[in-house]
Amino acid sequence: MNRKMILCFVVMCLLAFSLQIAFAAEAPNKLPNIKILATGGTIAGAGVTSTTTVGYTAAVTPVGKLISNVPELAKVANVSGEQVSQIASESMTMEIWLQLAKRVNQLLAQDDVDGIVITHGTDTLEETAYFLDLVVKSEKPVVLVGSMRPGTAMSADGPLNLYRAVILAGTKEAAGKGVMVMLNDTINAGREVTKTITDRVDTFQAPIIGALGVFTGDQPVFYRKSLRKNTTETEFDVTNLKSLPRVDIVYHYAGNAGTMIDAATNAGAKGIVHAGTGDGSIGKQEYPAIENALKNGVVVVRSARVGSGIIARNGEADDDKYGFIASDNLNPQKARILLMLALTKTTDVKEIQRMFWEY
Ligand code: SIN
Repeated sequence: MNRKMILCFVVMCLLAFSLQIAFAAEAPNKLPNIKILATGGTIAGAGVTSTTTVGYTAAVTPVGKLISNVPELAKVANVSGEQVSQIASESMTMEIWLQLAKRVNQLLAQDDVDGIVITHGTDTLEETAYFLDLVVKSEKPVVLVGSMRPGTAMSADGPLNLYRAVILAGTKEAAGKGVMVMLNDTINAGREVTKTITDRVDTFQAPIIGALGVFTGDQPVFYRKSLRKNTTETEFDVTNLKSLPRVDIVYHYAGNAGTMIDAATNAGAKGIVHAGTGDGSIGKQEYPAIENALKNGVVVVRSARVGSGIIARNGEADDDKYGFIASDNLNPQKARILLMLALTKTTDVKEIQRMFWEY
């Protein structure tokens, strides 16, 4: 080997060594930065024994422990956590929603946050998901996750759900899909998903429409996208909101004479979502109470207690004559959220109907 060749060899070795150092230094930064905002629920729940899957205590495990219980998270993301609340989600409040939405917007505006995972009880998870879907102002992924079994249970579903939610929140393809819900290997749109079974891990479904995608191993696979406007495309802004207008849901049933509609009106509701029978039907005996509500300036949305399907405008009620709003295919709890946000903008029923067709 002559001197030239030796020099060349040494230079190449040095180059390879410095490239190796550069790659090694860069490697940790290749993982997405995911913030986990914890709110409570069964995913943070604990039971007395490993077979306790009912009658456990929800919302006891702090976010730090939820994260350290799944060490595999460190392989797929740079994860950090914040405790927003520690409640069972049947006790969710509008104050927590506003606080959560503002924090999500603040975090997503940062360059060092790539996505957000929100741990949540399953009871009202679909409501929080749709609320955020309408008020988050970023295309970065936001994923709500829960579990049906507490962390102490045999075959607890929380750790794998959380692991996959973090992967999803760090996946480029998940951006621009609206707020998503991830449980049981299935990715659903926050607008469309609902809890359908009281006690099974396959409880979250999007009736008629179906899921956005599924997980195969560690890989999320998308098959479609919701076409309703969400996140950056909506007109709703929580930045300066301190509260939301009161909207009550009134359930219809055989023999109902409108007592609960009167109760909502007298309690000062600005809006009522009527969970009607069939295609959003209103009973004859309810009309005096409904007309009284309308006279008092209450905005009335017709939805259905059926759980899925479209409310045909001017179908089972004369919406034009009374000034009702048809909820499209939003179930009563989702229609309530859109009506609350709509009422922060207007009380014009034509405008609100437009929002129900758009969102
Ligand atoms: C809750 O919603 O907080 C309790 C039920 C659950 O998380 O599954």
